[in-house]
Amino acid sequence: MSSYNKYQESSARFYAALPLGTLDTFARLSGLETGIDVDCLYREGFLHKEESVLELGAGYGRVLHALLERGHAGKISALERNLQFFRFLQEHYPAVPLYVTDLLSGDLPSADVGLWMWSGIMEFSPREQQQVLFQLASAVHKVAIDTPAVGAVSNATSTDGQHQEVSTGWGVIQTYLPTSSEISSFAQLAGFSFRMFPYQTTTQRHRVLYLLSRSPLP
Ligand SMILES: C[S@@+](CC[C@H](N)C(=O)[O-])C[C@H]1O[C@@H](n2cnc3c(N)ncnc32)[C@H](O)[C@@H]1O
Repeated sequence: MSSYNKYQESSARFYAALPLGTLDTFARLSGLETGIDVDCLYREGFLHKEESVLELGAGYGRVLHALLERGHAGKISALERNLQFFRFLQEHYPAVPLYVTDLLSGDLPSADVGLWMWSGIMEFSPREQQQVLFQLASAVHKVAIDTPAVGAVSNATSTDGQHQEVSTGWGVIQTYLPTSSEISSFAQLAGFSFRMFPYQTTTQRHRVLYLLSRSPLP
């Protein structure tokens, strides 16, 4: 197992203590429970229904549900580190190949498109964010990364520059919000071309989809 820093450590503790079902409440607050982020990926022509997808950190299955509900025809698989979520996903998505894996383990299943949604990247230090993108470059052809827009309202209860914390009754998660230039440089170093797609959620939260591809993007 990799040596965790404060971001990954707090993420592991936070999700281990999180009452199951609570993530859905946060998704509603964020305006993401309808899968509007997944709709943007299809509408932008970045994700095609026949492509295989690997979801990175699938949580309670919000994105899996959105893909299946929209009739995604390509193979869908997902990895998750947290055992509570993994068991929940196994029970609710028995047809989806699931991997109980750490994204930092370096052993990622391959797919056409990797989906790293709903601020998942923020649970890693900048160095780890770059490391994961390097690893993904040999596992997937494209990657979508979703974060809040810099300076936008989010679920963070305190912000100190790019360091943001979400404090709840059961714990605190510490996160690092990368800027677009950081993501752009991580992407380029890993061999991906890059473009941004800003969007608003159903609760008018401003977010950004970073769309990365090993082929040139239009
Ligand atoms: C904010 S949730 C996003 C859930 C889901 N992708 C969505 O969009 O609804 C981030 C997820 O990433 C998982 N995660 C965090 N660090 C991870 C790691 N190193 N390896 C695998 N999963 C990880 C967490 O357990 C959590 O389920």
